[in-house]
Amino acid sequence: MAAASNFKSARARSRFRQKLLAWYGVNGRALPWRETRDPYRIWVSEIMLQQTRVAAVLDHYRRFLKQFPSVQALAQAQESAVLAAWSGLGYYRRARMLHAAAKKVAHEYAGQIPDSAEALRNLPGIGRYTANAIASIAFAEPVAVVDGNVERVLARMSEVPIAQSELWTTAQNLLDPARPGDFNQAMMELGATICLPGVPECHRCPVKSACCSRGQKLVARTPGAQRLRKSASLKLVMRNGKILLRQRPTSAQLMPGMWELPEYARGIRRQPQLRLKHSITSTDWSINVYTCRASVSSGETWVPLSQLARLPLTGLTRKILRRTNLLA
Ligand code: ADE
Repeated sequence: MAAASNFKSARARSRFRQKLLAWYGVNGRALPWRETRDPYRIWVSEIMLQQTRVAAVLDHYRRFLKQFPSVQALAQAQESAVLAAWSGLGYYRRARMLHAAAKKVAHEYAGQIPDSAEALRNLPGIGRYTANAIASIAFAEPVAVVDGNVERVLARMSEVPIAQSELWTTAQNLLDPARPGDFNQAMMELGATICLPGVPECHRCPVKSACCSRGQKLVARTPGAQRLRKSASLKLVMRNGKILLRQRPTSAQLMPGMWELPEYARGIRRQPQLRLKHSITSTDWSINVYTCRASVSSGETWVPLSQLARLPLTGLTRKILRRTNLLA
């Protein structure tokens, strides 16, 4: 391999794999998707883990699989139920694509999830990373993955910068073909827990002897996009065991079709009942929630409190309803 010159010889690659896998065997976090080879369960985990931290995924993952234990169950579900189960994870397009892909598997593949990376890529929402992750972990296909963590590990290991066009080949050359799923997860785990974006914890690194930088090389961080700060006032209106909600337009770019508290538009002098912060994508929101008497504007609907749990609520709405004890 041209770039990671530490790994030119088969022996050096073999030593690297052994050390990494031995470390992973002892130190890898026990996560529910690591206790299965079921491609459906691995697929769901990989989609949830995109742009979302492990800690935030765990609860949703368990609940989602309880509600949709198989690809058939997911294919038969209403989209609103899938979105409701996804509520709080954000990036709802992932849930819609997963649902569409489950339907495709049920109708066009007789319920069988394709068992190769190449075939998996024909499903909605599955690109190279996800296809290779599922194929290597569930089917032991020797295909490497490159995500942000793996890219950083490779960059630090290498003597010379690795061009974007060479990243996947570099990862593929280093992959352990005998244990591709464990190897891929071990590389991601190393990046997530030791070879950190800021200051790496080289003293704990199992493969530091093979590393060119040992923490000296700065890995250029892509500058974070400037975050926007916005504020909004929402109204919490209840009557006879019902709450006033509105549904976002199905054509909305963000969270289409999901339910939320209506905006409180009037000039407000009093203190809100609840203040909270909420961050989504690139915006940090300061939210004020006001309880007020019933006055229904167009587009607003009375929803029985008993139905809230089944509705695809936005993450913010769910947060407010939990804080006010209207939702478990
Ligand atoms: N990120 C996404 N999938 C992962 C996995 N299986 N292990 C570790 N980190 C991950």
